[in-house]
Amino acid sequence: MPHKTLLVVGSGPGISRAVTSVFAAKRYDNVVLLARRTDSLESEKAAVEQAIGKQVNIKTYAVDITNVAALATALDDADAAFGKPECIFFNAARVLPSAFFEHPVTEIEYDFKITVSALYVVAQRYVPHLVSLAKADPASKPALLVTSSALPLQPIPQLFALSLTKAAQRNLVQSLNMTYGPEGVHIGVINVAGVVSPSESERNPANIAAKTWEWFEEGKEFELVI
Ligand SMILES: NC(=O)c1ccc[n+]([C@@H]2O[C@H](COP(=O)([O-])OP(=O)(O)OC[C@H]3O[C@@H](n4cnc5c(N)ncnc54)[C@H](OP(=O)(O)O)[C@@H]3O)[C@@H](O)[C@H]2O)c1
Repeated sequence: MPHKTLLVVGSGPGISRAVTSVFAAKRYDNVVLLARRTDSLESEKAAVEQAIGKQVNIKTYAVDITNVAALATALDDADAAFGKPECIFFNAARVLPSAFFEHPVTEIEYDFKITVSALYVVAQRYVPHLVSLAKADPASKPALLVTSSALPLQPIPQLFALSLTKAAQRNLVQSLNMTYGPEGVHIGVINVAGVVSPSESERNPANIAAKTWEWFEEGKEFELVI
């Protein structure tokens, strides 16, 4: 059986750790984790290994995904090691208060680069491969899954920068889905519609991961709302 790779863009202790652990335990032999900080990536690797209880190859890359050249170098290396991913979980975002009008425009642009530009670069690189995979192998589950929130439709003014970039991101994912969904690629958003915490009954990382896996297994719907 060919090896399957999961690419996680934006690895951290919240949603991504839980989703990565469930997805790796259920389907993937290889996992690629991207985030900016080397120390936190080491913790994520150890936490995922501990959670899944089976042999999985994990490679980590400390990269700021707003740096397009650095992102490409990391993904070149990951592709050479594991082959291109079957599933991409795009999860990176920065939750930073943004007050009118103290918030500098450069900070809005930085958020846009994380949530939209980097997603576009990742899609540009991998969606053609995911389409080929869908055509070549009916047992494959090519997917681009993006963590979203209620902000695209219900902005919070105190988080206006994140709200507007998440709105743009959702719009991009919709266009990708309209174009490549019919080609057999599952492209969609996980709309986490509130604050995530281990103490939340619905919106805790473990439940979000379980629901995300069910939605992914079904492989039909554009949006999962949690
Ligand atoms: N947490 C919530 O309450 C909540 C609610 C609704 C929706 N969401 C959405 O869920 C997703 C994240 O979930 P989470 O909060 O639980 O976080 P998480 O999955 O624990 O981690 C996300 C990781 O993304 C990485 N990241 C951020 N900017 C990056 C960049 N420029 N380059 C590379 N990596 C970057 C961060 O690591 P580094 O700092 O090391 O780079 C961070 O640890 C986001 O899309 C967010 O909008 C979260």
